[in-house]
Amino acid sequence: MLLDEEKTEIRDLCKKFSDNEVHPLAMDIDKNGEIPSALVGKLAENGFLGVFVPEEFGGAGMDYLDYSILVEELSRNCASTGVLVSAHNSLCVWPILNFGTEEQKKEFLPRLASGQDIGCFCLSEPNAGSDAGSLTTFAEDKGDHWEINGVKNWITNGKEAGVAIVFAKTQKTDNYKGISAFIVDTKTEGWNIIKIEEKLGIKGSSTAQIALDKVKVPKGNLLGQPEKGFRVAMATLDGGRIGIAAQALGIAQGAFDYANNYTKERVQFGAPLNKLQGVQFIIADMSTKISASRLLIYDASHRKNKEMQYSLESAHAKLFSAETAMWVTTKAIQLCGGNGYTKEYPVERFFRDAKITEIYEGTSEIQRVVIAANVAKQ
Ligand code: CAA
Repeated sequence: MLLDEEKTEIRDLCKKFSDNEVHPLAMDIDKNGEIPSALVGKLAENGFLGVFVPEEFGGAGMDYLDYSILVEELSRNCASTGVLVSAHNSLCVWPILNFGTEEQKKEFLPRLASGQDIGCFCLSEPNAGSDAGSLTTFAEDKGDHWEINGVKNWITNGKEAGVAIVFAKTQKTDNYKGISAFIVDTKTEGWNIIKIEEKLGIKGSSTAQIALDKVKVPKGNLLGQPEKGFRVAMATLDGGRIGIAAQALGIAQGAFDYANNYTKERVQFGAPLNKLQGVQFIIADMSTKISASRLLIYDASHRKNKEMQYSLESAHAKLFSAETAMWVTTKAIQLCGGNGYTKEYPVERFFRDAKITEIYEGTSEIQRVVIAANVAKQ
């Protein structure tokens, strides 16, 4: 899709940052399982940790399309860096911006936008994944504060985070109705990281299990209305899913670029691979699916910019882009043959990184549930 002059400039800027600052580190980030703090500092300096935060709160004041472009460009070189930025902005910054009080915005947005604190989102639990409403973490009203107890699972940025959006029940129910949302400072006593997951891909991105043991949360840190926390979670995930779709798109584009170049240079049977029609057809399908993913992401981002409904469109974008990333990266390895299967080539990393996009922030099955529910209302 054609971008106007301003958006083209933003893409060029993100592309340049990603190629100069992220690309040289990507293999090591995967190997060492860590994003260097110097890179996180550069993300902050460039405004990428407060992309859509208004300038009055120390952010870059950009829009949601700019944000999608940024996550795509970062993920084209390194999906771990892409998701650090996506989970931070979509899942922690955005709910504070959208549901927070003036005091909460003033306290937390500058910390997050400047990179002083990384953000995370604590919804899932060992027994509450897709069925998020069944979570059991409890926040008890202690008069002058809340006391939170429970265990949270699969928390992206969980190791680094200084600020967390935590979902806990404030009424004992067996469904989503008693859930409230809180902003929690992770330096509070009782916030314990009990496990960092070993994963198939996105190895530079931390995924933590966190136990909350009598964590004291100030009364003023309730985010949104009491017992309306599930709406906060669902609305946040609508936006988060655009970010993960953009991450998936970046992964697919990165794998495609590599495999496409490889087929131009690799000579077999006396000619470059891309002279074979069987190869050309795969390249054509890859290119088509990638372009279609980008259109769905831009559509959802535009709707979000215009404050229109975008639950359906973000689910469309995430479902299609995640499945595209998996398909494209599988084909990219196939086109690169034995070389593609080795760690010397980046396509095996893209393949490992792609899988998570079909799982986190709502599995592909959950996206289908959301799409079907929205379509049934039309
Ligand atoms: N925006 C705002 N509110 C919404 C909403 C939306 N898009 N969708 C639903 N709601 C509200 C409804 O209005 C309703 O609230 P009220 O009763 O107050 O009106 C409430 O939520 C329940 O709605 P539904 O009955 O439609 O929801 P449900 O119980 O059928 O469940 C679901 C819906 C789609 C299955 C949901 O549970 C879901 O999305 N599950 C997946 C959870 C998920 O994505 N988890 C990933 C966690 S984040 C992560 O991956 C970790 C990380 O760090 C990256």
